Amino acid sequence: MGLQQKGMHGTWASRWTFIMAATGSAVGLGNMWKFPYVAGNNGGGAFVLAYIGCILLIGVPVMMAEVAIGRRGRQSPINAMRELVAESGVNSSWSYIGWLGVLAGLLIISFYAVIAGWALEYIFAMASGELSGATGESAAAVFNTLLADPGRLIFWQTLFLMLCVGVVIGGVKKGLGVAVEILMPLLFVMLVILLGFSIVRGNFQAGWDFLFNIDFSALTGRGVLEAMGQAFFTLSIGMGAIMAYGAYMPQNANIGKTILTVAFFDSLVAIISGLVIFPIVFATPGIEPSAGPGLMFISLPVAFGNMPGGLLIGAVFFVLVTIAAWSSAISLLEPGVAWLIEAKNMTRVQANLLIAGGIWVLGLGSVFSFNIWADSTVAGFTFFDFLDFLTSNVMLPISGLMIALFVGFVMQQQHVDDEMQGSSALIMRCWRFALRYVAPVAIVAVFVSGIYDKFF
Ligand code: TRP
Repeated sequence: MGLQQKGMHGTWASRWTFIMAATGSAVGLGNMWKFPYVAGNNGGGAFVLAYIGCILLIGVPVMMAEVAIGRRGRQSPINAMRELVAESGVNSSWSYIGWLGVLAGLLIISFYAVIAGWALEYIFAMASGELSGATGESAAAVFNTLLADPGRLIFWQTLFLMLCVGVVIGGVKKGLGVAVEILMPLLFVMLVILLGFSIVRGNFQAGWDFLFNIDFSALTGRGVLEAMGQAFFTLSIGMGAIMAYGAYMPQNANIGKTILTVAFFDSLVAIISGLVIFPIVFATPGIEPSAGPGLMFISLPVAFGNMPGGLLIGAVFFVLVTIAAWSSAISLLEPGVAWLIEAKNMTRVQANLLIAGGIWVLGLGSVFSFNIWADSTVAGFTFFDFLDFLTSNVMLPISGLMIALFVGFVMQQQHVDDEMQGSSALIMRCWRFALRYVAPVAIVAVFVSGIYDKFF
């Protein structure tokens, strides 16, 4: 069976378009909201080191493998996997990689939409002036009032899901593609402006030390597992999103260089977000680096509420955060939708409505985790914590492990070489070594010690 060289969906205009699309998927709440608070919970520097190690040794090689699968298959992730499995003549259970990914994506977007809803609320909270002159305490009070109100959380969650479904129904390429190419650079500029504020008005030295002074005693097995989970989450790997985008990548683009560029931008945004948030945290009485999921929503309003013109800048900033979350959420939604259309013969509208309905109901569990169910925990997890842990720290790593083994050992190596044209023999050797040995051993070791640490 000959594989199509172009695929039925055409290709991105250039390598740069792929970089923008993949960066749009990668840069989201994971960078600005999650990275700082997980780093804060795990003591800072040593966690950041573990995170960077996971990005380079596991994340980048696995991401390259996903793109190679997607570009060779030139279809939706589930079918691309099926086709490559058939082409290699191996056991068809390898194609479960596609399923695991679709499921993980739907679970992630169920809580992602709730958090993105907070960003929507904060556009208006900034613009209304209620955070003018905010202190650590008053900002925390505003945030806690929001969390205590399920109705408001559901309102914003619903609105965000409608925004996502609107785009996925209408086609991902035109509307969002254009928006992302303009707005992501703008987000970056805003972050740099905020960095200026942190340097001038925050306790920059303390923030810097917290992120970069390495104290290994603060790091547990669970912390390393969270660093690995964060690396998967922030690069959008382990669920087929990058595979799906890889399907549109021009045949002559160099996968290694491209993915390194995306990973670089993605980590840069995460680190700058940390360098914006922690100096403000250390300069503000009443906020701790380990404040948890609310960290960004409490510390940044303090900054915005106290700088000239800050309320306007703050409102614009949360618009940009919403857009970054939006371009990520779409890549979480699309694989499931594409599968319903292909396999169940649904129309695009039906598939979207079904999936969005399911996600909405599941998302209520996360909404209630912050108020009426806040005290119902199992093994210390609220419903939200559980979904977050299960997806980032269990499902994405397992699926990443399978992707590494599949491309490292199972796929015919000639086919892999075809996709990797333009990479030197040395790079190929390092990459294969990473996929065959480094990533699998690291994933299993980190996974086992993290689970052990968490539960025993
Ligand atoms: N990477 C995104 C973020 O950091 C979230 C995301 C989008 C994602 N698509 C994904 C995570 C696929 C895992 C898998 O916000």
